This record gives sequence, structure tokens and C-alpha cells, in this order.
Amino acid sequence: MGYKLAIVGATGNVGREMLNVLAERKFPADEVFAVASRRSQGVEVSFGEKTLKCHNLEQFDFSKVDFCLMSAGSTVSKEWSPKIGAAGAIVIDNSSAWRYDQDVPLIVPEVNADAVKGYTKKNIIANPNCSTAQLVVVLKPLHDAAGISRVVVSTYQSVSGAGKEAMDELWSQTKSMYVPGTEVAPQKFAKQIAFNCIPHIDVFMEDGYTKEEWKMLVETKKILDPRIKLTATCVRVPVFVGHSESVNIELKKPLSAKEAREILRTAPGVMVVDKPEEGGYVTPVEAAGEFATYVSRIREDATVENGLALWIVADNLLKGAALNTVQIAETIINRKLLPNAA
Ligand SMILES: NC(=O)c1ccc[n+]([C@@H]2O[C@H](COP(=O)([O-])OP(=O)(O)OC[C@H]3O[C@@H](n4cnc5c(N)ncnc54)[C@H](OP(=O)(O)O)[C@@H]3O)[C@@H](O)[C@H]2O)c1
Repeated sequence: MGYKLAIVGATGNVGREMLNVLAERKFPADEVFAVASRRSQGVEVSFGEKTLKCHNLEQFDFSKVDFCLMSAGSTVSKEWSPKIGAAGAIVIDNSSAWRYDQDVPLIVPEVNADAVKGYTKKNIIANPNCSTAQLVVVLKPLHDAAGISRVVVSTYQSVSGAGKEAMDELWSQTKSMYVPGTEVAPQKFAKQIAFNCIPHIDVFMEDGYTKEEWKMLVETKKILDPRIKLTATCVRVPVFVGHSESVNIELKKPLSAKEAREILRTAPGVMVVDKPEEGGYVTPVEAAGEFATYVSRIREDATVENGLALWIVADNLLKGAALNTVQIAETIINRKLLPNAA
């Protein structure tokens, strides 16, 4: 017997990727419904070989689906996830609306799959921020081996992390640079994104950090270990797809670069590509479209006791969103955690 799923936000960057991932992984789906706003009612989206017509969220009957994979932003999720959960569907949400709720598990299956059973309190499971997901997949095996005490991370985040309009802004602004008189003013971003870097993602908080940086700290603690100290600087870069991270890690026990490489080579979801030579590392362009989280440039950081430095790259729409969401649904099925599972 297969499952019935609704994809809310099916016309968006993440929603479209969810449909691709479900088809590519041959998710045991009997029926998949594309759902978006009233504006998109009837709009067609691809699901494998099929074409689905979008339903209007406000009129869709969620009692007929087992899972609702949600990627329509926080405002929509705050209003709709409780209603959808109450109708009987398990909501797996991509926004930040539920991540910090004690009654909602925040899951990266390679790291804390056991916590997924806590979903029954609200029928909602949260997917982490894209930068957190790819980070914790790599931190987890190193933490198990030598105990992480502190992490310093700088991100290089692609524009697709800000939605489809942000991708359009990079595209049109880049083109306009070559055609005098066609300047495209910043709209989705605070400053010009074409040929630039912007050290500002999400809103500023009282302590001077941005909300994106705060999310990485709080989510790493919730998913991996509340004792880990983390400080982040999140930067938007003119890349379409794929987030990169420069990471410095302080461990409780010594771990050589060679040992870390060996541990990461066998870690689930991780691919090590690490040759200290020209091109012996992965860039976002190569990670785009891939399910793995790539680790390169692994080396010892001699400025602290038991320090490591490394470079992490992943497709933010996949491991950072759609793939992780589908993996969570697969975890629930594999562990027979659905209410009517045999
Ligand atoms: N992009 C990433 O890397 C990433 C990673 C992790 C999490 N997320 C989160 O995933 C969510 C979606 O991101 P995205 O990049 O896919 O955004 P997006 O490309 O802008 O797409 C937004 C989607 O939400 C739908 N939507 C908006 N308002 C709606 C409403 N009132 N009712 C029903 N549907 C509505 C849109 O439908 P219409 O086309 O009908 O407007 C569209 O399908 C956000 O919460 C984001 O923070 C994104």
C-alpha cells in the first residue's frame, strides 16, 4: 500500500524540488497533490513523467492525505500547519515557524532520527534551516568521535535560499550590468547582489547577529547537542544554487585531519572530496542537483587545541530543504510510526 501526499508550496523553489525528489527516490506514493496559493490554482507542475494541476490551499481537504510536505513560508505555516495536523496529516514543514517549539521535533535523519517519534504531540515535524542541515550532517560523526566544544562558521549562501524571486533578481541584475540604462534596483536583497557579497540574511537581532546566524546556533543545539557553542556569520553570495560553509571546529580530544577524513568517508549522507591540489575540492556549482553533503579542505587548525578546519558544500534546495523533508517522511514509514502502520 502506498501513501497519499500533499505538497504545499508546489510552485516554489523547494516545492518543485520536493516533487523531483519524491519521483527520483521512488517514494511509495499512491497519489500526490500539488497545492499552492489561490493565484496558482490550475497551474501545472511536473512530478516525474506526470503533470499535476495545483490546488488552492484554502479549499484543499487535507483529511485525505497521510503527509503534507510544506514549503510556503512561516506565515502560511503558522496558520495552516495546526489545521492540517488536526485533520490527520503529518506536516513536515520547511519554514522556521515550528523549529523552536518544544513539542515539535527538528530532524535531520542522519543525526537525530530517533527524535522523530515526538511528532505525535502536534502532528508537525520541522525541517531545519538549509545552512544548519548540511552543517550538522558533518559535525555529528566528528562529535561522536572526539566531542565538539565550539564551532565557528562563515556561510556563503546562494540566492535560491531566498526563493524564486531572489533568483530572478540575481539573473536580471547580472544581465543589466552589461546593458546601460537597464539598472535593476535591489528588492529582495538590501544591496546589489550581482557581483557582490551581502553579510546580512534575515533580520537583525538586538545583539547585532542576524536571525539566520541565531538559527544556526539554536538549531545545532536542538538537533545535535545543547552543549556545543557556535558562532556564525551568514553571507549571501551571487551563486544560484548551493550553500558553502567555512568551518572551524574545537574538539575535546585530538583528531588528526587524516582521522577526520576517514570518519567522514563512512558517514551517512557525506562525500569527502579532499585533495590538496588544484580542483581537489567541491564548489557549489558541482554540488547543485546532488543529494550528498560534500566536505573538502580538511586540515588541522593549530591556533587552538584540537582544532580542525574544513569546507562544506551542499545543494540548499535538496539537503537544505526538499531532500531532508522527504527523508523525514521515509523515516516515519521505515520505522512504522504512522498511526495506522501495521
Ligand atoms: N530555498 C531554500 O533553500 C530553503 C531551504 C530551507 C527552507 N526553506 C523554506 O521553504 C519555504 C519556501 O521557500 P522557497 O524557496 O520554495 O520559496 P518560493 O520559491 O518563494 O515559493 C513559495 C511557495 O509558497 C507558496 N505560497 C506563498 N503564499 C502562499 C499562500 N498564502 N497560500 C498557499 N501557498 C502560498 C507559493 O505559491 P504561489 O506560487 O501560488 O505564490 C510558492 O509555491 C520558506 O519557508 C523557506 O524559508 C527554503
